[in-house]
Amino acid sequence: MASNPTRIAILFSGTGTNLKNLVAHILAENVAATLELAICNRPDAKGLEFCRDNNIPHELIDHTNYSDRAEFDAAMQTALQAANIDLICAAGFMRLLTPEFVRHWQDRIINIHPSLLPAYKGLHTHRRVLEAGDKTHGCTVHMMRPEMDEGPILVQRQIDVLPDDTEDTLAARVMEQELIAYPEALDMMLARLQG
Ligand code: GRF
Repeated sequence: MASNPTRIAILFSGTGTNLKNLVAHILAENVAATLELAICNRPDAKGLEFCRDNNIPHELIDHTNYSDRAEFDAAMQTALQAANIDLICAAGFMRLLTPEFVRHWQDRIINIHPSLLPAYKGLHTHRRVLEAGDKTHGCTVHMMRPEMDEGPILVQRQIDVLPDDTEDTLAARVMEQELIAYPEALDMMLARLQG
């Protein structure tokens, strides 16, 4: 491992499939990064169990305990700065961040989204792809910008939409691609940050 591994934080809100995948990737021998902190904004998130069971340093910062986005983001900022974080990976983090927060972390915060951006920003991407009759779908890892699901694209992976696809089958096949795309994008960021 390099002498100065990049110190990573992962933000998540739910199941944590991408969280688990990123943890496995970061632990791989040739990856010059350490997972310093996982932050979750929902007490019922399944990914929290994974953190507890695997001794992953984590913090639950429940957004319902804060009166507005700025206060919640300030609490996250405190935790991130205390852990001396270099790079943030949003992995199924279902909460909009303030422009101030995103600008502070400009080019050091990345996100995964289940569509071929710039198509289908926001929620329910699989349903909207089916409704539109699209023939292709996929996922994107991008650097975060203040506007939702905007920012320079690092990795995109595409799948074909099949005639009998449902939201669930699409979600499962897009997730397979997410599990390839996010480690690839993380490696790109590490190369960039480590020059
Ligand atoms: C993923 O599809 C991700 O792209 C989206 O939310 C979902 C999170 O799933 N932003 P998980 O928590 O990683 O299982």
